[in-house]
Amino acid sequence: MFVKCQRPRRWHFVQVLFICLILSGIMLCWDKLDSFSFDFASINPFHFGPSFRNSSFTVSRAEGCKFSDHPYLITHTKTCESSNVLLLLFVKSFPQNFARRQNIRLTWGNERYIESELGVSVKVLFALGVHPHLKDRTLIQSQLFQEDQKYHDLIQQNFIDSFYNLTTKLLLQFNWAHTYCSHAHFLMSADDDMLIHMPNLVTYLKQVHQAGIRDFWVGRVFNNTGPVHRKSSKYYVSPDLYPWDRYPTYTGGAGYVVSRDVASRIHQASLTLNATLHIDDVFMGICGSVIGVAPKAHHFFSGEKKSPYHPCIYKQMMTSHGHESDLQEVWRQVTSPEVQKVDSGITGKLYCSIIKLALLCNPFNRNTYPCNPSTIFF
Ligand SMILES: *[C@@H]1O[C@H](CO)[C@@H](O)[C@H](O)[C@H]1NC(C)=O
Ligand SMILES: *[C@@H]1O[C@H](CO)[C@@H](O)[C@H](O)[C@H]1NC(C)=O
Ligand SMILES: *[C@@H]1O[C@H](CO)[C@@H](O)[C@H](O)[C@H]1NC(C)=O
Ligand SMILES: *[C@@H]1O[C@H](CO)[C@@H](O)[C@H](O)[C@H]1NC(C)=O
Repeated sequence: MFVKCQRPRRWHFVQVLFICLILSGIMLCWDKLDSFSFDFASINPFHFGPSFRNSSFTVSRAEGCKFSDHPYLITHTKTCESSNVLLLLFVKSFPQNFARRQNIRLTWGNERYIESELGVSVKVLFALGVHPHLKDRTLIQSQLFQEDQKYHDLIQQNFIDSFYNLTTKLLLQFNWAHTYCSHAHFLMSADDDMLIHMPNLVTYLKQVHQAGIRDFWVGRVFNNTGPVHRKSSKYYVSPDLYPWDRYPTYTGGAGYVVSRDVASRIHQASLTLNATLHIDDVFMGICGSVIGVAPKAHHFFSGEKKSPYHPCIYKQMMTSHGHESDLQEVWRQVTSPEVQKVDSGITGKLYCSIIKLALLCNPFNRNTYPCNPSTIFF
């Protein structure tokens, strides 16, 4: 009796081990394949929405330029002069967010750390308008001048900095990039409450660059959304302004990257578009539609919420949203040397698959990274 039970169990164990081995083998190979397969078929069908070129969105070049010709109050025309810039990274920040900018300089936005640890040149700049309240503006403005004297990393134009002017800020970023940093291989736009896993991002972008990929646009993809017609919502868009029921595919404004060819064409397209639509990432989608480029989804660009805290997640994380006071602590964790080893070997891969299954498929963690085979098994 005892012997009879033992045998099938041992056989079962061998079978499971064998299947695991094969699966791990496949995973290891796909891991490599996955990072090199930039073919957009994986996100098809995306939709480009209506034809914006011949619509109420089209304006003359003279009119289009008015949306972006706000004079610079602070700028650095030579910041990007060094020859080999991998990434120009614009952080959208409100003037009063001094602490957030400081935390970023001490963590993922530390250019010297990136240069010495990762061996590439990344330029991190903060994109700003002016403080909305006249009463506070003078004081905040003088603090901004002081801050910039110390860090030389603010780019500010003379428009009122508010949620409803984010598209103006988008134009600032693409204009500045076009004029002063068009040789940077990639342009990224991010919020100031993000954590960007700089080592993972740099590794990824180096691969994309070496593979010579063009038409590159990556982030958290929103593929099936349309205008909100509830007037109380901050995303409210009137049917006069946007008469169609769907937006073109776009990436969430919290963090996305484009290659320099895309950045340049987006800039060109933006010059003949009506930039009244205040939702900057949707406007970016419209520009993408006009130039015929659709974004590629990368599952480890986060949604609305913070990444679950675990080394198996950190190993693949690109961005995580909603960090403020915890930024320095989480940065220390995500860059600890243990993280890079956590999923090594077959047992490591299996362990991380189980952990990711438990964390990402937990409904509480919806809006972080999606629960699907490519996040769990790779
Ligand atoms: C994108 O939207 C189309 C149509 O709305 C849908 O059929 C498709 O599954 C979506 N694709 C992704 C990757 O979500
Ligand atoms: C643009 O729209 C106008 C009128 O709405 C139409 O007459 C014209 O044929 C359209 N042009 C193109 C290229 O679609
Ligand atoms: C956007 O900025 C412009 C220029 O400063 C200003 O006139 C306008 O009122 C601002 N819009 C909002 C909604 O803040
Ligand atoms: C842009 O669109 C808005 C809203 O539809 C409209 O009021 C404005 O006149 C347009 N601007 C130009 C320059 O066409």
